[in-house]
Amino acid sequence: MVEPDKKIREELSRLRAEINRHNQLYYRHDNPEISDAAYDKLYDRLLEIEHEFPQLIAPDSPSQRVGAAPSGRFEPAVHRVPMLSLQKVTTGEEFAEFDRRVKEFLETEDDIEYVTEPKLDGLAVELVYENGIFVNGSTRGDGTIGENITANLKTIETIPLRLSESTAARYPLLEVRGEVFMRRSTLDTLNRTLEEQGVPPLANPRNAAAGSLRQLDPTVTAGRNLIFHAYGISATDLEGLGSQSAVIELLEHEQFEINESINTAKGVEQVATTFARLDEGRDSLDYDIDGMVIKVNRFDQQEVLGQISRAPRWAVAWKFAAEQVETVIEDVIFSVGRTGAVTPVAKLKPVRVAGAIVSNATLHNQDELERLDIHLGDHVLIQRAGDVIPDVVEVILDKRQPRAQRPKFPKNCPSCGSGLVRPENEAAHRCLNVACPAQLEGRLFHFASKGGFDIEGLGGKLAYQLIGEKLVTDPGDIFSLTSEQLLLLELMAEKRVANLLDAIERSKKTELPKLIYALGILGVGEAAARLLADEFGTFDNLQSADIERLEQLRGIGPVIARNIVAFFANSGNRQMISKMREAGVAFPKHQATQQGQLSGKSFVITGTLSRPRNYFKNLIEAAGGKVSSSISASTNFLLCGENPGSKREKAHKLGVEIITEAQLEDFL
Ligand code: IVH
Repeated sequence: MVEPDKKIREELSRLRAEINRHNQLYYRHDNPEISDAAYDKLYDRLLEIEHEFPQLIAPDSPSQRVGAAPSGRFEPAVHRVPMLSLQKVTTGEEFAEFDRRVKEFLETEDDIEYVTEPKLDGLAVELVYENGIFVNGSTRGDGTIGENITANLKTIETIPLRLSESTAARYPLLEVRGEVFMRRSTLDTLNRTLEEQGVPPLANPRNAAAGSLRQLDPTVTAGRNLIFHAYGISATDLEGLGSQSAVIELLEHEQFEINESINTAKGVEQVATTFARLDEGRDSLDYDIDGMVIKVNRFDQQEVLGQISRAPRWAVAWKFAAEQVETVIEDVIFSVGRTGAVTPVAKLKPVRVAGAIVSNATLHNQDELERLDIHLGDHVLIQRAGDVIPDVVEVILDKRQPRAQRPKFPKNCPSCGSGLVRPENEAAHRCLNVACPAQLEGRLFHFASKGGFDIEGLGGKLAYQLIGEKLVTDPGDIFSLTSEQLLLLELMAEKRVANLLDAIERSKKTELPKLIYALGILGVGEAAARLLADEFGTFDNLQSADIERLEQLRGIGPVIARNIVAFFANSGNRQMISKMREAGVAFPKHQATQQGQLSGKSFVITGTLSRPRNYFKNLIEAAGGKVSSSISASTNFLLCGENPGSKREKAHKLGVEIITEAQLEDFL
């Protein structure tokens, strides 16, 4: 047998680590970093080495997963009919408004018949039945292309593998849609097992269902007790089916599991009553729902209503108000962020809210602290609304202890001790000392975060140590850290140090938007960083941009423009940038990404439209299209309103396609 040399062994271990990391990003975080092609290249190289030196195949190599597709990933699955999303409403008034629009569209005064269904909080999937046999199942993906997860779906017992003969004959191609989810009780059991194995528990049933469904090994999925509830179908010919309730009946007849709370309701009032009942009962369900889906029942009416953007006009999701939970404020601490803003944070007695255990809530600033009149030991209601960090909604005054104390807002920075100031027109108190360790820690953490240099292993604890030991005085210093320095830190063994240095080295090959984001300029988040990269193309162009040009960019505005200019004028920041250059960080060029359905298409607008022309111009440009004022043979479309004038004729002569507002909406 040929013996592999040290170089090969090293390459192999690097490949395995890389592939495992990308698998994690892809499967656990749904956030891949590299293209499928780049991934396949790594994987192929792994297989090549293992083929040549079979003695090196370790049982935990990514190549040894049972049931893995050759590339170790799922195949793409194109949905014949796109899987749409839903418009949302959050109040009765908003639903009434939806109902009014439906009636207007249908030109009727009669109460509309709706089907009401719980909005299950899981994952939408599609099951394809050909001649009655379940042949393909996929995730929703982006609505157009999902992932083929047939083998995993076959392990879900409530999914029939075969339909009745009569249905198979009537609908040779039938696509069934519904939601895969996990019961709360199943998650509790699963988490107990995971904990015994020393694996961190899963945060909520939705994540657990997603993770379980996207396992490469179907036997893992099989052990997770997932449930499928069907709620829709599409077929080449829906003959004999005139309504959503007929669909539900058919699905029930075919042995699909149907949710027990599906109902019909006529008119706004009945829908509102059903909604209130569902909301009231939801705590006693063994699964999570986050609202009610309301669908116009009759298909002839659905057809007239059609769709707008990516959502049907005949359905809406009425979301529940954020869940509120009672707990106790055990302490209030004051945390200093990377911008120097001091935020009061309530330390809570841990409770479960909206599927996650929380023990901190933000109190935002002094005004909010006073508005809520928080006292230590108070019983409070908290809620999570979209954000991970919950808000305190109100204090339950009846339960306040007699001698409860108000927390004192500090006069000095809790980290560096310098005096806090509250700038005019700002709600926040700030520490203005740029060398403040807490700020530096926040900046370093931000710099190394996923959206920035993405240095794995450089978390909050290490940032704290690096700053405490004065190994880092600004983020630019991390590129010249040595293993000798790092080994002196607490808990840093050789392996960890090597991994960290490896991650730092790899991070130098970054992309311009990430580089810009990492700098932590006030107001420049990931979206703004991408925009700046698109606009300026190189770091130097951005660094020398003047305020007038920056101000004009859509999505930047005068405040952020000023922050950018001030950032580059600061000598400390310039020093940090030089350190990065000297250490070999890439400052790459950037090619603007013309994303969107209309990229490369040119438009001319004419006539009177239902909204100002600028509105449509923005819409087209946001989707990557161009708008010009005069028509020529290279124009792709003329968007034409009422009383169009000569442009319409000219377009006709030149063979330019003429479209209406509605058609433009359909494009988008
Ligand atoms: S119908 C065109 N019905 O909601 C209608 N969706 O925002 C599209 N969902 O991705 C879907 N329960 O995951 C429908 N009873 C239900 C649903 C439901 C949950 C989810 C589904 C979809 C999302 C749409």
